[in-house]
Amino acid sequence: MEFKEYIEKFLNRFSNEIGIDLGTANTLVYVRNKGIVVNEPSVVAVNQKTGQVVAIGTAAKEMLGRTPQHITAIRPLVDGVISDFEVTEEMLAYLMKRAGEFLPKKLLGPRVVVGIPAGVTNVEARAVRDATRNAGARQVYIVEQPMAGAIGIRLPIHEPVGSMIVDIGGGTTDIAVISLGGIVRSKSLRVAGDKLNADIISYIRNEFKILIGETTAEQVKIAVGAVVPGNPIETTIRGRDLITGLPREVVITDSDIREAMGQSISVLIDATREVLETTPPEILADIMRRGMYLVGGGALIKGLDELLSHTFKLPVTVVDEPLTAIARGAGIILEDIDRYRSVLIHSEDDLSANQ
Ligand SMILES: Nc1ncnc2c1ncn2[C@@H]1O[C@H](COP(=O)(O)OP(=O)(O)OP(=O)(O)O)[C@@H](O)[C@H]1O
Ligand SMILES: [Mg+2]
Repeated sequence: MEFKEYIEKFLNRFSNEIGIDLGTANTLVYVRNKGIVVNEPSVVAVNQKTGQVVAIGTAAKEMLGRTPQHITAIRPLVDGVISDFEVTEEMLAYLMKRAGEFLPKKLLGPRVVVGIPAGVTNVEARAVRDATRNAGARQVYIVEQPMAGAIGIRLPIHEPVGSMIVDIGGGTTDIAVISLGGIVRSKSLRVAGDKLNADIISYIRNEFKILIGETTAEQVKIAVGAVVPGNPIETTIRGRDLITGLPREVVITDSDIREAMGQSISVLIDATREVLETTPPEILADIMRRGMYLVGGGALIKGLDELLSHTFKLPVTVVDEPLTAIARGAGIILEDIDRYRSVLIHSEDDLSANQ
């Protein structure tokens, strides 16, 4: 065992270290001394005739809903987990190669810290590890995303004090309570940014008889979505009239979007309540005092902090740059893997223990 560790340490000299937030909506790559060097939408455009990858990241996202028949823009992760293994692998290989341009040349593949949603199955976690390995990593360390987020925003995770973090991404919302280097309570739900986009699409179809695409729905959500009423905001959107089949414009207000998102926002609030209700009293007291931290793109939904704070009577902080918190956490971990070893899930045994 000791000999194995010695060999490991020796080999590490020939590897770079990189941190990856492999998200449903965005994938970010962190490298030592440089910070986040790659930040791209998790989208890959594939030519169905040849099977070849046509574009990855921003270029592929621009094609979503606009591709000719033989090209499809794929989001290889759905609900926080890999749905298309080969495409995920290609995307990772490409993004790792891009990050490699910021690193010294090394003989061996990099050691990679990668985040997975809390509470995913053994099989799902293994898929992330295998895809990262196949994309060229020599060694893969897996960390649960809420833990990476907590580290990224520098919460005192190793101390005997409870912290609460809510990561609202594209595919999943992870709600977690952390103390003494471990996740004490957590809940992961498949209600996050993508679901809100879908809610907006179906609301506009039902109320205005207009069909809009995912990209438009996301733009509307960001521009006029607010979960508590404030100054009225409106925007004009274009879609296809379901009756005539022709393009039509309508004006959408913040109150439309609030109604569209209402159901999903209540699901999110209820899940947060469940986590709080099962948190041990001492830790709950810490959280009531220190509050809840919001990370992920969904943290930017207007009024969400106010709504949570009002509902649970505790302080709510939207962290600075919420979309990069997980990747920054992966970066902090890779810079001191020994210190964070206890929060990593890196062996077969750990993966099955997580089941
Ligand atoms: N200003 C904003 N207001 C509301 N939602 C936003 C805003 N900015 C980004 N988002 C949403 O945040 C989501 C992306 O967040 P993020 O990059 O954290 O997700 P992810 O990490 O890729 O997904 P996951 O963690 O679920 O795998 C998208 O659904 C996007 O629409
Ligand atoms: Mg995420």
